[in-house]
Formats: sequence, structure tokens, C-alpha cells
Amino acid sequence: MKVIDLYCGLGGWARGLKDTGHDVTGYDIIDFSESYPGKFIKADLLTYNDFPHADVIVASPPCTDFSKASFPPTWTAVKLYPPNIPSAMELFNRVYEIVALTSAKYYIIENVVGAQKYMGKARMHIGSRYFWGNFPAFTNRVSSRNGVFDGMDIRYLTPLECERLMGWEDNWTKYGINEKGETIELSDNCRYNLIGNGVVPQVVREIISKEVME
Ligand SMILES: C[S@@+](CC[C@H](N)C(=O)[O-])C[C@H]1O[C@@H](n2cnc3c(N)ncnc32)[C@H](O)[C@@H]1O
Repeated sequence: MKVIDLYCGLGGWARGLKDTGHDVTGYDIIDFSESYPGKFIKADLLTYNDFPHADVIVASPPCTDFSKASFPPTWTAVKLYPPNIPSAMELFNRVYEIVALTSAKYYIIENVVGAQKYMGKARMHIGSRYFWGNFPAFTNRVSSRNGVFDGMDIRYLTPLECERLMGWEDNWTKYGINEKGETIELSDNCRYNLIGNGVVPQVVREIISKEVME
């Protein structure tokens, strides 16, 4: 199947889809070409229109503003950087336009609980991940806030442990590229953010096989 992966990031969707032999192309405004598992196109999805036909569209539009909108207005970070709901809605709604442009039969949009207030009730959710569309999908709940016992201490999970829980390759988030195109080692904070944004490839593989191919 031909799959378009919108707001693809590092490619959690793509990894699972590629594992089952699907032809995946990812689109993102940031250049993830170094790590993305399929064909990658750097594009601003609000203006880009040059899409081929796709059988399936998967999309993870940014969720930060919808997340912030769920916090009480007294929360300091929300007061300093208030949510931009119109912008978040525009990015989310753009997926529906691209579904129409590509005549995709199936689509899945992944986001957070706070998006429901603006984008309508999700079709389903697993933990903190909510899904809109005409077939279901899943993610794991992994974040830097999870603690583990280590001898007598409690510590956060390392980025490597989080990658393994997500079913990703070891050190998949370790390197990125800067504006000059140079390979750089990413900070732990950046890695936790990328991991927290991601989806579990193995679960995508199962869902795609069961829900679409059978
Ligand atoms: C929630 S993350 C996607 C994470 C991805 N599913 C993964 O597995 O790593 C949202 C992505 O939207 C991208 N993005 C934000 N605005 C965009 C725009 N106008 N056009 C294209 N991509 C955009 C960001 O760069 C970010 O990678």
C-alpha cells in the first residue's frame, strides 16, 4: 500500500508500516531525512499540495497547544506561553484536506485529549493518545517522568530505556542534524521529547495488517 505520513517526525508510524512492506513517504517541516525510515520530503504542510495518490494517511499534528489548553490558567508555563489554538486547529484540519487531495481510503490522526474540545470526539484512545479517523491505532505510554527502582534509588528512565519500551532501535534518537546539515548529538531533553511524540512501530504493524490488509 502507498502510505503518506504527515507531520512524520522521526517516523514511528513509518517504521511499523515499512516492517510490513508498505511504501511510506513522510512529510515534515523539520528535516528528519537522516533518521526517517522511508522516503522523506521536507515541506510546510500548510502550503504544500504536490501529493501523489495514497491508500492510507497517518498523521501526528502538533499537540502541544491542545495539551496546554487542558491545564489550569494558573500554571506558570501556560501563562508565559499561552496555547495557540487556531494554529493547532489549522494544522489538524489540514489533514482532512490532504485526505481529500490524495483520495486516501483510510486515515488516522493521532493527538491528545485536549484536542477533543476543538476537533470533536476521538474515535478511540489508548492512555494519553487519542485517535481520529476511520480505523484505529495505538501508542505506548513512555515519558521521562516514569521512575524505576535502581538498587536503593529511584531514577528516571534513560532515553535508551524509553526507546526500547517504544520498540525502537537503540539510540534511534541519539543524533540529529543542525541548520548547517551537520550531524549533532541530541540532548536528553530533546530525546525525551522525540520519544514522547512517537508511536510504537510494532503496534502500527499489527493494526495495519489486521484492519487494512485483511
Ligand atoms: C507530534 S510530532 C510528530 C511525531 C511523529 N509521529 C514520530 O513518530 O516521531 C509533530 C510534528 O509536526 C511537525 N510540524 C509542525 N508544523 C508543521 C508544518 N507546518 N508542516 C509540516 N510539519 C509540521 C513538527 O516538526 C513535528 O515533527
